[in-house]
Amino acid sequence: MTEPDADRFLADLHELRGFGASGTGKGVVRPAYGAADVAAREWLAGRMEEAGLRVVVDAMGNLFGLSKTPGLLIGSHSDSQPEGGWLDGALGVVAALEVARAVPGVSVVSFQDEEGRFGVTTGSAVWSGAMDLATADGLKDAAGVPLGEARKAVAHLVSGEVDPAQFSGFIEMHIEQGPVLDGAGEKIGVVEAIVGLRSMMITLSGQQNHAGTTPMDMRRDAFQGLSAFNTALNEAFRNVVTPRTVWTIGHVTVHPNATSIVPGKVTFSMQWRDGEADRLDRMEAIIRETAAAVAAERGLTLEVGPLLGLAPTAMDGRLRGALEAAAQEIAPGAWRRMPSGALHDATNAARHMPVAMLFVPSIGGISHDFAEDTAEADLVTGLEVLARAAGTLVG
Ligand code: GLV
Ligand code: MN
Ligand code: MN
Repeated sequence: MTEPDADRFLADLHELRGFGASGTGKGVVRPAYGAADVAAREWLAGRMEEAGLRVVVDAMGNLFGLSKTPGLLIGSHSDSQPEGGWLDGALGVVAALEVARAVPGVSVVSFQDEEGRFGVTTGSAVWSGAMDLATADGLKDAAGVPLGEARKAVAHLVSGEVDPAQFSGFIEMHIEQGPVLDGAGEKIGVVEAIVGLRSMMITLSGQQNHAGTTPMDMRRDAFQGLSAFNTALNEAFRNVVTPRTVWTIGHVTVHPNATSIVPGKVTFSMQWRDGEADRLDRMEAIIRETAAAVAAERGLTLEVGPLLGLAPTAMDGRLRGALEAAAQEIAPGAWRRMPSGALHDATNAARHMPVAMLFVPSIGGISHDFAEDTAEADLVTGLEVLARAAGTLVG
């Protein structure tokens, strides 16, 4: 093992940001299968080859750089949110590449569509067998494009499948994407568990009509239905959730979205996350009951799309121990154990192998925003902890 090269790591990270760089701040626009994502994957594949790794791209576009002995898999994702930060995913891929240069027996991965243009971590879901390719192909993005169409953009790169059984474990380094480490002035978070998540699309349909002539008591206004649903849901959750439970209506399509038309249809995403599967179940029941009650009261029809999700996932004790020991050597007294409120590909990888994760601070706790950033010294500390832990695990 040699020491990782911090300057080369930072230079690679900045170069990757060049694919889909936003005009604002340091952000990127690199959603899965878009031109910037594909170009970034081609560039990463070249870097992997230069590092002596054997490049394999599977049918989903998951990009692997395999070491001669498969060993430990390290990585993350290089697709981004529609308005994404430069480090979310990219950090874990570029750090893995640098560790693979320094530590023999480390393979690298950049999973596809972690950010869920089509679902929830679809690339690693298909790779791990949590979802079959035919089901994934039928998933549609917010514009109605099926994944099966979108993935034609990586067809020229596809070279084979990669059997998860060959790896001894998976480690993912990531930005925290929350305020805890930055607020405490700490450098490293070693993840104990990743929360579970459920997500589905809900449609309320009423009657599209004239906004000037339709009396309020005769309306079947789909947007008013959504508004009432949101208020009733927050109330109904009160006795079920904890301060760590989160839920989000993040994508809304109002039809026909015109000032002078009573909206006839609204389709929205409903996502909820918690560390306990039972609570996720209870929340699901409340969501379904509340939506049905609001629809009945207001003369709306209700359609609920397929439920997607990830189970809460504990990290492996041995891999976690290696990260903790490395954190204590490199950042003594400046690290902590913590949960991950964000979802990660590690959850899918855990179907086949032990997994662990480490976090570096996010300035101001901002992520999924162009303003997302981390001090470069903290990025390098994370790289050093990752490399030290990998060295002990493969050595
Ligand atoms: C992924 O970034 C997520 O947690 O939504
Ligand atoms: Mn991410
Ligand atoms: Mn993300």
